[in-house]
Amino acid sequence: MISLATMHHMPGSNHDFMQPFERIEQLMNQGPRESGSKKIVLITDPEDVQLVMHSRSMVRNETMRSLAGDGLIFSDGKKWRERRRALQPSFPPSDPTRHAADVDWALAGLMDRLHAIADTSETFPLLEELLRFTTRLIYRVAFGIELPVDHDMAPMLIRFFDTAAETSMAFIDAKSPVNIEVMRQFPSARKELDREIDSIIERGRRESVGEEHVLGTLLRMEAEDPAFTDEDIRDEIRTLMLAGAETTSNVLTWLFLLLDTHPDHRKAIENELDNTSDSELLQSSILETMRLFPPVWFISRQAVASITVSENTFETDDWAFICTYLVHRNPDYWEHPNDFRPDRFAPGYALPHRYAWFPFGGGRHLCLGKALGELETFESARRILQTFRIVRSDSKPLKPRLGIVLKPFDDVPMRVELRAR
Ligand code: HEM
Repeated sequence: MISLATMHHMPGSNHDFMQPFERIEQLMNQGPRESGSKKIVLITDPEDVQLVMHSRSMVRNETMRSLAGDGLIFSDGKKWRERRRALQPSFPPSDPTRHAADVDWALAGLMDRLHAIADTSETFPLLEELLRFTTRLIYRVAFGIELPVDHDMAPMLIRFFDTAAETSMAFIDAKSPVNIEVMRQFPSARKELDREIDSIIERGRRESVGEEHVLGTLLRMEAEDPAFTDEDIRDEIRTLMLAGAETTSNVLTWLFLLLDTHPDHRKAIENELDNTSDSELLQSSILETMRLFPPVWFISRQAVASITVSENTFETDDWAFICTYLVHRNPDYWEHPNDFRPDRFAPGYALPHRYAWFPFGGGRHLCLGKALGELETFESARRILQTFRIVRSDSKPLKPRLGIVLKPFDDVPMRVELRAR
């Protein structure tokens, strides 16, 4: 277990938002606790993560399923296995650049918008802009739909993500205050999203979308199997919107915020991109960003049989709450864990433990979109940093927020400037 005293007061931790923040500290301080008839145990050691993630006695629990449906990302067992087998060919791990043309297409739109914003010198909400980009990409990859470059889907998606997150926090951490007003909006946010999902399905049918897109595979499964319903398709589409759009947009947002607070490092990356054909500094900065701010900041599992992990025995229904954020900052494995030090990931680096850094999960549920997520993060960061400098336009303290993904508490107003070279 990490001691709070060790995590605070690290020499060189000069930015408040880099420190472990309150809501996670509250979770940490609780230790194993009872919730109804079940026990919830917080996991922060990589050795324990490995045992839980690879155990057949630990499966996904119902929390998110009850909110966002039984799609691939929240299901387990036979249903999960069948879906994973069906959807995997659209995201082949052996072909990591499979979606390169889609990324180029979506990125061209983002670059046009950034040029236009740079011309006006006005501030813009960074996270919303990046979510617009990642949404266009997932629509094209998964549904075969090309959204306009200025589509206004982002606020609707953010409303769904944030109201679902607030509701799930009530399950995860009964002691933290939840925002009831936000929770109340969840049913209408989900209805609004489902109307959009229905229009995606209708369009896929009308235009006979091909099986190179997940939607085509889902429509074929529905045609072949009477047990496969519209609700199944809806669940998978909701999953892809959630998993595919909010994750990458937040990695990129944190990267630009970190570079804004570490200008020497940003300059070094700019020099690398301007003067060499390498991108080692950029690569290592992305990995370090995902260490400090893993978008999927927790992974929960529920015991279906008795299992012992270190000093904790889980009986059926007990929960393991793997806090990726804390594992990634565990001082037993990382020196100066709260500092942004991309050189930890310099070429040839070795992880201190296989599960000391696992932003894409591991075991049978390893992220389906890992290659796409890596490609879009790297390519968009590279193109943006080559052309622009994105800087904060205010100096308000930054606070992370525990959404379904880890994100800045408020969208951060930024300015974008064309870089002089
Ligand atoms: C930087 C970007 C991303 C990160 C950090 C990330 C992270 C993760 C993590 C940690 C899991 C495992 C969850 C668990 O064990 O319960 C996961 C699963 C998943 N991710 Fe991603 N993801 C990213 C991008 C994407 C993209 C672009 C897609 C779109 C296809 C995607 C689709 C999925 C799906 C479908 C699963 C469920 C896999 C399964 O259970 O079989 N992810 N992701």
